[in-house]
Amino acid sequence: MRPIRIALTKGRLETDSIALFQKLGYDCSAVLNKGRRLILPISDGTNEMEVVLAKAADVVTYVENGVCDIGVVGKDTIMEMGGTFYEVADLGFGRCRFALAVPKGKDFYSGYHTRRIASKYVNVTRSVFEAKNMDVNIVKIEGSVELAPILGLSDAIVDIVQTGLTLRENGLEVVEDLADISARLIVNIASLKLRKSEIDPFITQIENILKEEEPT
Ligand code: PRP
Repeated sequence: MRPIRIALTKGRLETDSIALFQKLGYDCSAVLNKGRRLILPISDGTNEMEVVLAKAADVVTYVENGVCDIGVVGKDTIMEMGGTFYEVADLGFGRCRFALAVPKGKDFYSGYHTRRIASKYVNVTRSVFEAKNMDVNIVKIEGSVELAPILGLSDAIVDIVQTGLTLRENGLEVVEDLADISARLIVNIASLKLRKSEIDPFITQIENILKEEEPT
């Protein structure tokens, strides 16, 4: 049987994910010195696991399809993609929020024209405005969404905001906070049953670390 495989989101969540596994006692030197390798072994001396580094959406796809058993991915991607897997823990890092933002000083709600909203997260955006009973046109943008209103492509954006710096430096401001986001631990449904004896203790270990870190 192959080792338990964990899909980690590359980039922003990577460092905190590795720090978490190190706290659990895993030697992550292969991940830290990965070079161009994409599948990397980690071990705590007893348990051998494999770490796969992938883009957020691919983490969900790999876990959903069972080629990875466990994943670390942002709630933003989960909200956008949906999917069938267990979301077993809020890992507490990668905290940011979904926000609706407009060019500074602009009144998003005045007037009757159909607004155009740019976002990487078209499904999240659709459900936000459905909930408001507002008919909007959604334009899908792949990155640096803040550009869309500056260039005149959209009236507003729905995007993730962490420090708020990108908005500020580009003359935009939040009109409304939409949802809190953080990194989540997800598990393939079949894996949780079939490899329970390996996965359950790992989840428990993580839960214990999270409890220790909880502010009292
Ligand atoms: C995200 C998001 C914002 C920025 C927010 O982009 O889309 O642009 O981070 O962070 P801040 O509030 O701390 O400034 P990311 O860096 O992930 O890249 P992208 O624009 O290519 O998606």
